[in-house]
Amino acid sequence: MAAPDIYDEDCAGRLIVITGATSGIGYETARKFASRGARLVTVNRNKDKSKALCEELKREFDITCDYLIADLSHLAEMHSIGHALAEMNVPIDVLIHNAGIYLSNKVLTEDGLETTFATNFLASFVINNLVEEKLKSQKQARILLVGSEGYRFAVWGLRLDDLNWNARRYTGLRAYGASKLAQLLTMMVFHNRYSGSGVTINAMHPGMVATNTGRDNGPLYKWYKRNVIDRVSKPASISAEALYYLGLAPTLAGVSGEFFNLTRAEELAPPARDKVVAETLWEISLEMGGLK
Ligand SMILES: NC(=O)c1ccc[n+]([C@@H]2O[C@H](COP(=O)([O-])OP(=O)(O)OC[C@H]3O[C@@H](n4cnc5c(N)ncnc54)[C@H](OP(=O)(O)O)[C@@H]3O)[C@@H](O)[C@H]2O)c1
Repeated sequence: MAAPDIYDEDCAGRLIVITGATSGIGYETARKFASRGARLVTVNRNKDKSKALCEELKREFDITCDYLIADLSHLAEMHSIGHALAEMNVPIDVLIHNAGIYLSNKVLTEDGLETTFATNFLASFVINNLVEEKLKSQKQARILLVGSEGYRFAVWGLRLDDLNWNARRYTGLRAYGASKLAQLLTMMVFHNRYSGSGVTINAMHPGMVATNTGRDNGPLYKWYKRNVIDRVSKPASISAEALYYLGLAPTLAGVSGEFFNLTRAEELAPPARDKVVAETLWEISLEMGGLK
């Protein structure tokens, strides 16, 4: 419930890449970084919204803003973003994986993957693998995963034999929890791979904030969100402050493999600390993500 710690220095000249910047937390975060002089590359699925966002940021803050278009639930597009970022000839200072969804009903992508798992987890997994060598060669970068305390909805851990929800009844909360838990588990492996390279990877819960999340769900969910969830939610500007702090504060230099509730480090529940599951999930995800 505590407010996030504040980092109050400018960041002119820093390159920030953020996914899902056309709405909610990503939008507020893009504005926060832009307001302090960052150069931005946003990765979004909607071209008109991306263009409007860059125009707004350039107009208001006189910064450089570019965008890449990708539906991050599609494997080919995860790969094309990973390659595009890996080929950039300037250092990426902060890479924020923010794009995410909540679906109350199971939907398969054109690759046959459960959409929440593909978008919330596999996209960042694939991209982080593809940019690994570039980030290491820079000798300095911060990767931030916008996770969620909702990883706790996967109370009994991940069902590695049923990541696509074929053998069990799908529920939105459990699928969302599984996707966020998968991200935390593989963060442990990334943390080890990046160790000593100057690249750090951390995850954060952005608070319970009012955004457009869940807009793809039915009228009942939308009513519940509008009348219950949104009424007790905070503004997404607190998430943006937290991401600004986690991305830039010197106090966090070298800090990696941590989970922050806004900016407060928190111990993860046991299912997110299971190294054996993490290693197995890593191998499965390489297969699922088309990286083998
Ligand atoms: N809001 C909360 O209280 C809360 C709590 C915990 C965690 N989170 C996490 O915070 C992150 C941001 O969510 P939000 O609450 O800000 O929701 P939001 O307002 O719905 O924003 C989600 C962003 O992700 C983009 N996106 C969704 N699916 C995509 C896809 N397949 N390819 C590319 N971009 C895609 C959306 O693009 P469009 O604009 O085109 O739809 C939008 O820019 C998510 O990872 C979410 O799980 C949110």
